[in-house]
Amino acid sequence: MMLATDEAARRGLTTMGWTRAHSGAAPAIANMSAQVHQGYPEGQESFANRLSLWPQGCFLYHSGHGEDLLGYMICHPWMLDQCVPLDHVIDRLPADPTCLYLHDLALLPATRGSGAGRAGVQLANSLAQAAGLPVIGLVALPDAIGFWRHAGFQDSSARPHSSYGTGAIVMQRAVQSESEIVQPALP
Ligand SMILES: CC(C)(COP(=O)(O)OP(=O)(O)OC[C@H]1O[C@@H](n2cnc3c(N)ncnc32)[C@H](O)[C@@H]1OP(=O)(O)O)[C@@H](O)C(=O)NCCC(=O)NCCS
Repeated sequence: MMLATDEAARRGLTTMGWTRAHSGAAPAIANMSAQVHQGYPEGQESFANRLSLWPQGCFLYHSGHGEDLLGYMICHPWMLDQCVPLDHVIDRLPADPTCLYLHDLALLPATRGSGAGRAGVQLANSLAQAAGLPVIGLVALPDAIGFWRHAGFQDSSARPHSSYGTGAIVMQRAVQSESEIVQPALP
């Protein structure tokens, strides 16, 4: 039988924030994706593929309450301006990548506006820096273009794959060194 204190200890194992995704996280990520990205369906094979190809680029956002998940971020090395179709399984990563491709950063509605998105971008920036990749590239969905522009991403002349439909654009941002990152002012 599980005691209340055991339960509290178990729930205390997670703290709120971004952590590396475990290898079996694809079903949970696909579940969140289906809630967040209606109109942009992506099955768990695509997420399992990224978890297997480059696990260090896959993250979950925890609520801090046991197993509750509130978001995810998926990145991997890629070629700048070479777009990946939506819901696509990649055979292999490029031998000489030129960017970190931020495949998706998604938060359940209750978590938005809390700074979790900004923290995800900083995490991707650190990841790119550690991997020696000079640029972060992504496909911005129409409703998120303002968020990416606010985070310093610029429009690219490249076009997203047709599977993204209309309104999505390709964006990129040079990786910033720690000293260039402007921290928000404390209240
Ligand atoms: C896009 C998303 C990840 C942003 O996360 P978030 O936690 O709401 O963003 P934050 O609270 O970290 O906001 C960071 C800053 O961006 C600003 N911002 C957030 N959304 C914005 C928008 N749509 N347009 C302009 N600015 C925006 C915030 O005001 C904040 O500004 P500040 O740093 O000056 O205070 C989140 O809204 C989301 O998951 N959306 C649905 C999924 C999605 O579209 N993902 C992107 C796929 S390309």
